[in-house]
Amino acid sequence: MKTGIRGHVIDAPEFGKLRSHQDGAVIFDPQTGLITSVGNYQDDPEITWLETKATRPVILPGLIDIHAHLPQYPAVARTESALLPWLEKHIFPLERNFRQPAARAIADAFFAELLANGTTTSMLYTAIWEDSCEAAFAAAQASGARAIIGKVMMDEGTYSDLEPAEAAEISIQQSRRLAQKWHGAANGRLHYAVSPRFAVTCSARLMKDAAKLAEETGTYIQTHLSENQAEIEYVKQRFPQSKNYTDVYAQAGLLNAKTILGHCIHLSNQEITTLAETNTKIAHCPGSNFFLNSGLFPMDKLRAAGIPIGLASDVAGGPELSMFAVMRDAVNMQKARHFQDRSIPILTPAQALHLATAGGAEVLSRPDLGRLEKGKTADLAIIDLDKALPLQGQFTPPPTAPEAIDTLVYRANATAVASVIVGGKKII
Ligand code: GUN
Ligand code: ZN
Repeated sequence: MKTGIRGHVIDAPEFGKLRSHQDGAVIFDPQTGLITSVGNYQDDPEITWLETKATRPVILPGLIDIHAHLPQYPAVARTESALLPWLEKHIFPLERNFRQPAARAIADAFFAELLANGTTTSMLYTAIWEDSCEAAFAAAQASGARAIIGKVMMDEGTYSDLEPAEAAEISIQQSRRLAQKWHGAANGRLHYAVSPRFAVTCSARLMKDAAKLAEETGTYIQTHLSENQAEIEYVKQRFPQSKNYTDVYAQAGLLNAKTILGHCIHLSNQEITTLAETNTKIAHCPGSNFFLNSGLFPMDKLRAAGIPIGLASDVAGGPELSMFAVMRDAVNMQKARHFQDRSIPILTPAQALHLATAGGAEVLSRPDLGRLEKGKTADLAIIDLDKALPLQGQFTPPPTAPEAIDTLVYRANATAVASVIVGGKKII
């Protein structure tokens, strides 16, 4: 027996290209969790039609957030001048206290909120504690969400009471255990990411060992690169033998096709070439870059270099988990750059949708996600367009696909998310 959902089916398989069926349907097999067909709606007694509470449903691929910090969510919107004082003052004390049993309760609430916002896949950091990462995986498993999670690794300037050498050794041991237990768990819904925080708080030794661990276990790698000028200066002083910040990671062996780097705002041409040559991927975090006064992401330059880019909330650097808010920030950021230099292209809502779906899937080496077509995984977000339209849509005629996406990017939030399906299973 197949399951179907009827609505305005829209996806963004290519940058700037929408594909849609106005009175459409997505049919999937709940057994395999795969989409069996996408097209115009046709009644079929063989299909169980899912009811949603949406009066004007838009069916999108589940949204993908490729960089956020789970323990930090309770501390969003703590205004500070810049990244490093914000980390010291607000974030490290918070992560230090992210322990069981509170960690599990926060993690449960976090995944419920991600799903309520239509985000079906996320890539997350926890705190440095092994139990904080266990709690996050257990919560992800129970929630039905798809997630890639890693325990933060730090051995210098860390918030544990350990000496650097011991902190590094324990961090590697714990990360290995977590990777062995969780990478590919829950029928492949959960994966592990080796997560050295950034070159400010990691020794060369720890970064090298982290890279080796990721290679041994076949896991992802996530870290931060070139977010803030003071951070870049600090890394230059700490690693004078490296050509630049990117080279610190390259020398440690951290850059490969399963590496996702958050931010990448202030890179030189040489650094961009290194990322392209190593097939490294980028998590663009526009809400965070605005909030922490970090800078404007050179989208056109990084895309021209052929580097895959996805979107991310970077909570609590970014103040919201909603990928609609993140898409909006991404659009506004490129507009700001365009105002400064008219030769810089703007980013359209349709392009932002691509980055938050198929683009994120490419970054995660998951071509089965982020697209609505036969054979892809049935991860869906059903959004009630009437909840995003002015006056509940009472006076709006049926919109075209670009109009619907414009409306959602500029106006949608969690209240418009009617239903969420992960791997053919209805979660909301
Ligand atoms: N760089 C290193 N750690 C962090 C973090 O937690 N948030 C952000 N935005 N940048 C970082
Ligand atoms: Zn981050």
